[in-house]
Parts: sequence; C-alpha cells; structure tokens
Amino acid sequence: MLERILMPTHSREVRLASRPKGEPTLDNFAFATVEVPDPRPGEVLVRNVCMSVDPYMRGRMNDSKSYVPPFQIGHPLEGGAVGRVVASQDKRLPVGTYVQSFLGWREAFVAPAANLQIVDVGVAPPSAYLGILGITGLTAWAGLFRIANLKRDETVFVSGGAGAVGSAVCQLARLHGCRVLASASSEEKVAYLRDVLKVEYAFNYREGNPLDQLKTGAPNGIDVYFDNTGGPQLEAALYALRTHGRVALCGGISGYNTPVPGPRNLMLAIGKRLRLEGFIVSDFLKDLPAFLAEAVPALRSGKLIHRETVVHGIDAAPAALLDLLHSGASNIGKMIVHLAD
Ligand SMILES: NC(=O)c1ccc[n+]([C@@H]2O[C@H](COP(=O)([O-])OP(=O)(O)OC[C@H]3O[C@@H](n4cnc5c(N)ncnc54)[C@H](OP(=O)(O)O)[C@@H]3O)[C@@H](O)[C@H]2O)c1
Repeated sequence: MLERILMPTHSREVRLASRPKGEPTLDNFAFATVEVPDPRPGEVLVRNVCMSVDPYMRGRMNDSKSYVPPFQIGHPLEGGAVGRVVASQDKRLPVGTYVQSFLGWREAFVAPAANLQIVDVGVAPPSAYLGILGITGLTAWAGLFRIANLKRDETVFVSGGAGAVGSAVCQLARLHGCRVLASASSEEKVAYLRDVLKVEYAFNYREGNPLDQLKTGAPNGIDVYFDNTGGPQLEAALYALRTHGRVALCGGISGYNTPVPGPRNLMLAIGKRLRLEGFIVSDFLKDLPAFLAEAVPALRSGKLIHRETVVHGIDAAPAALLDLLHSGASNIGKMIVHLAD
C-alpha cells in the first residue's frame, strides 16, 4: 500500500541549456517544472532538503571524455542531494527516512529504493552528509591517507584550505598529529583557517608569492601537498617539497574554466624523488565505513567541525556553482543549496 505525507505533484529542476566556452554564465542553465508520478512498488518519492554544489560539475558541462559522462543538454544536472521520503512503496524506506542520492539538481523525484542510501540525521544534520560525512570528507581522507600516505608529525600544505575538501584536509591532518599550512583568497578565510581550524600557518595566496609564504610557514620544507587548485600554488609546492615528498592531486580548479599550463618546474620531481598521484574519490567508496568510523565520533565530540555556506532555493544553485569556480569565492566550508526543512 502507498504510504504518503504531503506529496509534491511537481518538481523544479536545473538543466544544462548550453555548453560554456571558458567561463560559464547563468545562460548555460535552464529551469523546468516536471510532474512527479506516484511511486510504484519498490519505489519511493523523495523531497530533497539540500543539494551539493561541486566544482567538478564544471567539467561535466563540457562535451569531453572524462571519468564521468558529460551532462546532456536539456537534461537535469546530476548532483548529490539529501532528501526525505514522502511517499513509499518499499518497506526498507518508510516515509520520513532521510536518503542520499545522486539523481540530479531537482526538488523531488521518484526512484527505486535500492538506489538510495539511508543517512542518520540523529548523528548530524542532512547537509553534513554532503560535506564532512560524505564525499567531501572521504576525498580529504583518501587523498591524505590512501594517496599521500601522510604520517604523524609531517608537514602538509593544502590549497583551497577554507573550502569544503580543504577544511576537511586541515582538520584530519591536524587530528593525525601533523603540522598544517593552508591557503585561501581572503583575510576572512585566513582568519577562519587560523582561529577556527587552528592550522599552524595560513596565508592569502593572492598577496605576494605563495613560495615566499611556504618558506615562512615551513622553513624546512613540506612533506605533503594536497592540491586543490593546480596553477601557481602547485608550482610553489614543488619548490617547497622535501626529498621524497608526495603530492595528492585532488583538483585543479584554477584551470577549470580556462586551462592553465602545467608547472614549469616539474623536473624537480626527478631530483627530489617526488611522487605526484591523481585520484578520484569514487575509487575509495569502499573506505567510507572506515572513514565514518573515525569521522562520526570526532564530529560528535567536536574534534571535527562541519561548516557550510548556504544559499536558498533551487533558483540559487547555478549562481552558487559559478561562484565556487572563482578565486575569491564566497564559500567557507561546503557550498549547500537549502531546499526544504
Ligand atoms: N579528486 C576527487 O575525487 C575530488 C572530489 C571532490 C572535490 N575535488 C576537487 O577538490 C577541490 C575542492 O573542491 P570542493 O568541493 O572542496 O570546493 P571548495 O573548495 O569548497 O570550493 C572551490 C574553491 O576553490 C577556490 N578557487 C576557485 N577558483 C580558484 C583559482 N582560480 N585559484 C585558486 N583557488 C580557486 C575558491 O576558494 P578561494 O576563494 O579561497 O580561492 C573556492 O572556494 C576542487 O578542485 C574539486 O574539483 C576532487
């Protein structure tokens, strides 16, 4: 029998209207309202309460081959979301259950219950599963411990330090007994890194030369660079890395709109025996339980914090994505679109 509470009959969704050349604009997005059917046996109807805004979505706006297929023009943008089951035809997901999905930037949808993951909102608010307890946190963890093999007492530098992944990197590395240097684009973000996340050295990468900052913050060099940006900060990190240093290549956001040339000093990797390794978090989903076993108690005890920047309503989602893709972005922590309580 269909179990239901206040069921939406229509849902607004964000679609790709056209492919950007260089910097995207709001014209590259379109909105549409679609009917939401009743769920059939084995299905549930979910009303999303929050959606994730992720820089990698920029790459999917291009028509190019990558590790994930491009968004299709006229179709909804795929994106992470957490929502609440409001009608159910599956005993595993009764009405009221909170679930995580990857089924598009939309207000509501019907899907097979088997395609959705339950999230425990008794542990943390729904949006935390898009941030510190979700892909964001796992990305930081995998990059530090599976790719860079971070060891206690080492010195790690992370660019994009005040963003979602970056602020998780700062916290996880500090909890591991490491010394952390982090960069961001404004005094407010630097103060957040220094005063709230308690990193040992935070700097504004837009003021002066990042290498001078790294020399000041780590006169003996760094062991690990967690790269969120590529560009000039990757180049500076290659100079600052010690022999046998490691680089976790997580993202290259400085080149997402307009590609930037690779580091001019890559040859340093030979003499210093550096290891640079790219990674994609989806290869580490099997590690999510191990990560959560560490992260949930740390969040509960206050050793980890989840900070987010929230915009309201689905209409605000495209502008939030465009914002993230700029140096000087407004977000501290995870960028979230709030849709419903
Ligand atoms: N490999 C993976 O599986 C994986 C998974 C998730 C995320 N990522 C990558 O990780 C990085 C961080 O993602 P996130 O979700 O945590 O986003 P985020 O850091 O919360 O937001 C992006 C940040 O990038 C910075 N930025 C934008 N343009 C820049 C530029 N030209 N130069 C330097 N910094 C710039 C902005 O911070 P400032 O204003 O402080 O510069 C902005 O806040 C991205 O590169 C993303 O693609 C990779």
